[in-house]
Amino acid sequence: MRGNLLSDYSATGVACANIAFIKYWGNRDPLLRIPSNGSISMNLQGLTTQTQVSFSPELPADQLSLNGKSAAGAALQRVSKFLEHVRQLSGMQWVAQVESENNFPTGAGIASSASAFAALSLAASRAAGLDLSEAQLSRLARRGSGSACRSVPGGFVEWQAGESDQDSYAYSIAPASHWNLADCVAIVSQEHKETGSFHGHALADTSPLQPARLADAEQRLAQCRQAILQRDFGSLAQLIELDSNLMHAVMITQTPPLLYWQPATVEVMHAVQSWRKQGLAAAYTIDAGPNVHIICPAEESAKVKQNLLQIPGVQKVLRAEVGGPAYLIR
Ligand code: PMV
Repeated sequence: MRGNLLSDYSATGVACANIAFIKYWGNRDPLLRIPSNGSISMNLQGLTTQTQVSFSPELPADQLSLNGKSAAGAALQRVSKFLEHVRQLSGMQWVAQVESENNFPTGAGIASSASAFAALSLAASRAAGLDLSEAQLSRLARRGSGSACRSVPGGFVEWQAGESDQDSYAYSIAPASHWNLADCVAIVSQEHKETGSFHGHALADTSPLQPARLADAEQRLAQCRQAILQRDFGSLAQLIELDSNLMHAVMITQTPPLLYWQPATVEVMHAVQSWRKQGLAAAYTIDAGPNVHIICPAEESAKVKQNLLQIPGVQKVLRAEVGGPAYLIR
């Protein structure tokens, strides 16, 4: 039961970023963000967004602060549109103050929209008086950013593509404790990308390669699920590089093309493949940007990081192990 204190209409959520092993690229329904294929990811422990949402009758309009700075324009509009959906679900009439902080640097090659919309879903729904199940929260987060639905459950997570708002959500296929993997993110550029994923998804179907990527997606999902459940790093390594290459083949052949790789990106890809031939368990995967995520067993991550820092184009390396689900703090 609510009291009449304003603080009752406030909540704070925390969620991890995630890195996809089987990528989401292209939407069947762009407005609802129903994806063209299912995807599988790992949450990144310690790389988090913390978001406080406070609904109030005293504010003139929704307000957003990002990493301590007041935000307007497209970022505020996107959050406000999302809050509108929460207001429709909950019957809440008030506008809100949203304060969001990432503990990882912006432009560091880690998509902040996933952790941001997962944390916002949790905080906004709770502040508006809703008590949503994990699946409901994941569906809500999906409306803000597709990959955000995968940052709601913990550990290794699958987003079932589904066909409607109702059946398109993510769930955990194994908890974080299941397999001690790490992601070493090789930062080769900190520039803001010109084309974000929202516009990129919309052009996926212009690539003649997208149908081939989609036709085989179910099989890759099944192989990935199995590699995770059996902790089979050799199979996982081959599969995540294949899936990342398939997504980038589509990106490069879209109209207009999206070529996110920089020379140092390709340097790192070659290096990782040669380390693996020499017996180091490591595999690369790349999102909508030039930085490279190197997945490895956690015990190999010091070696991977040390090797990466010797490649001239690598500016720095961030490291994360497998993270848990989104949670509320008071
Ligand atoms: O959630 P979005 O719209 O930012 O799309 C994410 C797309 C990729 O990061 C490239 C792949 C993925 O599955 O995370």
